[in-house]
Amino acid sequence: MTERVSLYNEIHKGLRSQLLGLLIECGRTDPGDRDAVAALGVRLRALRGMLEEHAAHEDRWVEPLLAELRADIAEALSADHARIDGAIPTLEVAFTRWEEAAEDEQVTMGRLAYGALSSFVGAYLTHMGREEDEAMPVLQAAMTDEQLLEVSAQLRGAIPPPRMAEYISIMLPAMNIEERTQMFAGLKANAPREVLDGMCELASGVLATSDWSAVRNRVGL
Ligand SMILES: [Fe+2]
Repeated sequence: MTERVSLYNEIHKGLRSQLLGLLIECGRTDPGDRDAVAALGVRLRALRGMLEEHAAHEDRWVEPLLAELRADIAEALSADHARIDGAIPTLEVAFTRWEEAAEDEQVTMGRLAYGALSSFVGAYLTHMGREEDEAMPVLQAAMTDEQLLEVSAQLRGAIPPPRMAEYISIMLPAMNIEERTQMFAGLKANAPREVLDGMCELASGVLATSDWSAVRNRVGL
């Protein structure tokens, strides 16, 4: 069975990996270790930037297509985005309280921040599932894979290359070998040599040696 092109699969895998990785790290961090708590705060704020940008990309590139086909789904997903945007500052406040907590409050504030992050991750996972299960089939039924790839290319083309490299760095380790192979086969066939070389360098930095050589073998790089 041939898989249809999805606008969500790869970036959502990357975001899931970051959200769940942060939640796990948050759960096992010593609540009294100020450096470790500050490091969690840095990760949370970096992830916040990506989540906000990602929602803006979807609102700009995907929502108008969906609105023409299924206005109800487009509106529900926009409402999700607004709800998530509203929840992020609350989450950040919980982390700031933990970072700034007096010694006798660190355990409690750490537990509250972990709980807030867990609820947020749950809501975000549900939202991504809705996009994949409700929106993507509508788009796939109305559009060819070529048209979907064109939308994906426009969206990715609007992201500055250094920022795109950051997205790829979280996506590649979260993807499976089929997806990595497809990505690099496409780059080998269509991208300028320097882009392919840059992506290979990036992949060798974020993937385990054996994982990256498996992709290179399959693609012939
Ligand atoms: Fe979304």
